[in-house]
Amino acid sequence: MTQSKKTGVIGFPVDHSTSPIIHNHWIKENNIDAVNYEKINIDPKHFEKGVRDLIEGGMSGLNVTVPLKELAFSFAEELTDVSKQTGAVNTLTFKEGTVFGDNTDVVGFQRSLDPEVVDQNINNKNCLVLGAGGAARAVICAIHNLGGRVYICNRTLEKAQQIQRFFQVESEVVDQKDLGDVVGEMNFIVNTTSLGLGNTNNTMIDFIKVDRGAFVYDLIYNPKLTSFLSEAQKRNIQHQNGIKMLVEQAAESFSIWHNILPKNSELLMNKLEGL
Ligand code: ATR
Repeated sequence: MTQSKKTGVIGFPVDHSTSPIIHNHWIKENNIDAVNYEKINIDPKHFEKGVRDLIEGGMSGLNVTVPLKELAFSFAEELTDVSKQTGAVNTLTFKEGTVFGDNTDVVGFQRSLDPEVVDQNINNKNCLVLGAGGAARAVICAIHNLGGRVYICNRTLEKAQQIQRFFQVESEVVDQKDLGDVVGEMNFIVNTTSLGLGNTNNTMIDFIKVDRGAFVYDLIYNPKLTSFLSEAQKRNIQHQNGIKMLVEQAAESFSIWHNILPKNSELLMNKLEGL
């Protein structure tokens, strides 16, 4: 008899994660033989032991969130090209005694974009990425795949430079103090920093200088309209939050584990937006 699949998300802390709502919705909708998708806190100091214990307990797949994505990358025995490109893993699969690592954030970000936006604001256009953490790596990789010219700006300049070296694709680092000089040339601006979460405001950009035809994206989805997006909205600049990316990266992980690419239904969006 085959065992019901066991999946979940690990992070530290992981309590804020909405992944269980998404995965459990699709497990039910697609009649998958799987137990409830769970949230599990794993202290980075005991990452390996924590994950090995879960594998022994019958876990077949794990999503990985902050701050464990780089540790998951080192832990995986077989890596996809995209996870090698980003140096981060957000999806672990345990199969036939091997640990497989993938990064579905890249395809998640790509699929979250309207083809028109890709055409008009990304392909062959100037794309500014704010931040240089794990999320920035996935976004840079996606923009590069979509033919955009990448500009990276981060509070800590060296981290932006490190990413630039790591990727070995053409990109430019913008010093935060020079941002005002270049922001008007940008066709796509994406916030990957944590500024805008909780009570923080993202004031990295002076929106008066942003081109009206630009597209502004914030990876944050809670709150739905961050101060960053609200500045764009005030100036009638097209914008979007991170909810679609969240669902699309989850869909790709789900398909890796269950061989079904689930649909992003209105019912699911309502569940998520009602949180
Ligand atoms: P994630 O994996 O979600 O990207 P992370 O790796 O911790 O998380 O990265 C957080 C990003 O938000 C970094 O670019 C960080 O800038 P630093 O490299 O200078 O730390 C950025 N960030 C966090 N708090 C910030 C703040 N108050 N002002 C500006 N940038 C901030």
